[in-house]
Amino acid sequence: MDVSDLSVRERPDEFDLDKYLRRSKRVDLSRVEWDRMGEAPVLPEEARCIAYMMDIETHTSIFMRDILATRAAADANLSAFLACWNYEEYWHGEAFSRFLGEAGWTLAPDLELPTRDTPYPSRWERVSRIRRDVTRNVPMSHMATLLGSIVEPDLVALHMTWGALNELTTLSAYHLLTAKTEHPVLPQLLAAVIKDERRHFAFYRSQASIRLRRSPNARRITRWAMDRFWRVVGTGVVARSETDFITSYLFDDDGLATVADIDRTIEALPGMAGLGLGWRAVNQMRARRGLPPNVRLP
Ligand SMILES: [Fe+2]
Ligand SMILES: [Fe+2]
Repeated sequence: MDVSDLSVRERPDEFDLDKYLRRSKRVDLSRVEWDRMGEAPVLPEEARCIAYMMDIETHTSIFMRDILATRAAADANLSAFLACWNYEEYWHGEAFSRFLGEAGWTLAPDLELPTRDTPYPSRWERVSRIRRDVTRNVPMSHMATLLGSIVEPDLVALHMTWGALNELTTLSAYHLLTAKTEHPVLPQLLAAVIKDERRHFAFYRSQASIRLRRSPNARRITRWAMDRFWRVVGTGVVARSETDFITSYLFDDDGLATVADIDRTIEALPGMAGLGLGWRAVNQMRARRGLPPNVRLP
């Protein structure tokens, strides 16, 4: 049998989609001790990280719209995953929103302090403002994805690889923030979200691997586009100052070993050897700040 005839379901060594779909649910915050929020302050740097993470999590529906503009929409496995993935990411955004509210951090323009009983969706004005800003320029890129997908069926491999790197950097950022914070509740919240992010990453990596393995064209296009267009997740959604802040605060210095792990993992995908996108992103941030580049860890 040609490997291109194999679906995810027929590859038991790969992601167990059935298990994921059966277990998908709103993030489980039952182990988060909200009544301990007042035991320590949430530092301004931590609040800035969480606000960034909240905005990106909340933005997932726009990323999903772009994926569904490709032939992914016709794939029963992919569209089933995306339905649950988008649901889970929405609740991650709300979990971070509540954390900031319980910590007493207000954000423009709502200046809302969401707690357990605040009506959903919280921060309506903030979400609407970000969506308006982002979607103003999106019709062109959305059309490009749509047209590209018609002429190039392997474009789905690019979205899966892109998704794998975004989920992996997100997952890693949550681990790095957990290691850095001294707040008693933040690690509990991040642990709950990390459980979901691991599964998201596993799905995208599995899909990317299958699609890249079976098509030299997919490998060529994906490598070219990742190298040319990939930027730190959040670029174009939040201000450059924020992507540079989070890259510096979490991934530079103590985070460099994690960056090396991220690059190694993505480079293990077929056709992606030597890409070094994480490393490059840190050095681009350093260049903008007038700092010398880091030497890449082996
Ligand atoms: Fe998430
Ligand atoms: Fe995720």
